[in-house]
Amino acid sequence: MALTSLVLFLTLLFMTCSGLTVDPPEDLSVFDSGRLGYLDITWSPPSSLVNLTKCQIQYQLEYFNSFRNQWAVLRTTKKSYRAQFDLSKDVSVRVYTLMDGPCADNKMQMSENYTQLVQKPPSTGIADTEAKDFTCVFYNMERVECMWTRSLRTPADSQLSLYYWCKLLELAVECPKYILSGGVRSGCQFPRNSLAEFSDIIFCVNGSSSEGSLKPVFASLQIQNHIKPAAVEKMDLKTSSDEQLELLWENPVRILPGHCMEWEVEHSHERPDGNRTLRTIEIEETTSLTLPFSPHMERDCFRIRSKLSTYCVDKSLRSDWSDKVCYPEKVKAAPELKSNLVPVYICIIVAVTILLVVSVCVWATIIMKKTEPEKKLDSLLASLFAKTSAFAAPTIFKGKNVCADIMI
Ligand SMILES: *[C@@H]1O[C@H](CO)[C@@H](O)[C@H](O)[C@H]1NC(C)=O
Ligand SMILES: *[C@@H]1O[C@H](CO)[C@@H](O)[C@H](O)[C@H]1NC(C)=O
Ligand SMILES: *[C@@H]1O[C@H](CO)[C@@H](O)[C@H](O)[C@H]1NC(C)=O
Ligand SMILES: *[C@@H]1O[C@H](CO)[C@@H](O)[C@H](O)[C@H]1NC(C)=O
Repeated sequence: MALTSLVLFLTLLFMTCSGLTVDPPEDLSVFDSGRLGYLDITWSPPSSLVNLTKCQIQYQLEYFNSFRNQWAVLRTTKKSYRAQFDLSKDVSVRVYTLMDGPCADNKMQMSENYTQLVQKPPSTGIADTEAKDFTCVFYNMERVECMWTRSLRTPADSQLSLYYWCKLLELAVECPKYILSGGVRSGCQFPRNSLAEFSDIIFCVNGSSSEGSLKPVFASLQIQNHIKPAAVEKMDLKTSSDEQLELLWENPVRILPGHCMEWEVEHSHERPDGNRTLRTIEIEETTSLTLPFSPHMERDCFRIRSKLSTYCVDKSLRSDWSDKVCYPEKVKAAPELKSNLVPVYICIIVAVTILLVVSVCVWATIIMKKTEPEKKLDSLLASLFAKTSAFAAPTIFKGKNVCADIMI
């Protein structure tokens, strides 16, 4: 402890005696070269150190990253740095001097103070006219669409524009293809490969109106964190001999390796009594699922959606659900059909019975009426009648009952 204090004291004494104090850098400035807030920060070494030859000078740069809402800190031997700022907010930068080498007794010395620069946003535009809800979606890694909505106070005759910049570009460029809704610009579509992945892209939606320029809005994002996979289209559901149900599907994002995908399978199991259970199964790595299956009037249905795994990207949007596939494909029709047709069958039976009974009634009446005057008919007919009436009498009796029953 005492030793440390002594060393510190001696260092301070040396520095004071040799007149060496580490001053902060000078001439700090930021320069906007038309890259939507990707600013050039420059500074000069403190003049007190310019003539010191045996010194190694470094700088500690601190700037406020308003997209991430935190200070970024870095060290560099250069006298300039480029960083991204949100131009609709304050630009705040600080630089310290760091000195090392024989002139600093080979110990790193940092200036006590810093040089600071705070720059107010250059143009603010009419308040509350900035585009709102700016979002970008990278559909199936094929095309990017960025959308926004207008503020309520945006004048009706406003024309909104989108500009973007990324490190591949010399200067900010305008949207290649606007998306219109109701005749006004509500989004921008970027063709494949026009935006680099794993690189910050800065977007600015600004605009003009008869009342003046609108307040611009800035966004910074990396498009691989905004991928929305397409819905699964190719699915196959089959049973195997050992009473297993196997679901297979195809990854719709062909350019992505399988280990980047996370699948969510929704399984609904319907029993004949109508009891339906629903559960979700999370699956990684593979594109298949095998479940035990009992083929007793049960029905299993599946649908799938996906997102990208955090092994591959920081975040991802979920895909839409696929169509549903079921085994068996259709609900078993037999039980329902039977119950539906029961009244029909009953009606047919009743109708046939009535018809029969009525015919028998009519026939029997005719025969009985005819028998009185035709008593002198030949014996063959008489015996035939005798046989028939023997059978007919109870039938008529029963038939009358039935007729009466039905008529009631
Ligand atoms: C550094 O050296 C130059 C010439 O060698 C001299 O003109 C200048 O005043 C010196 N600067 C300081 C800060 O001592
Ligand atoms: C640090 O620098 C600021 C200006 O950049 C100055 O106002 C302040 O007094 C300095 N502080 C010290 C301790 O020298
Ligand atoms: C919008 O921003 C771009 C890029 O910075 C600029 O060229 C253009 O003039 C701006 N438009 C308006 C209306 O401010
Ligand atoms: C459906 O079946 C599950 C488990 O087999 C049971 O917990 C649940 O109570 C049943 N629901 C109805 C409405 O019968």
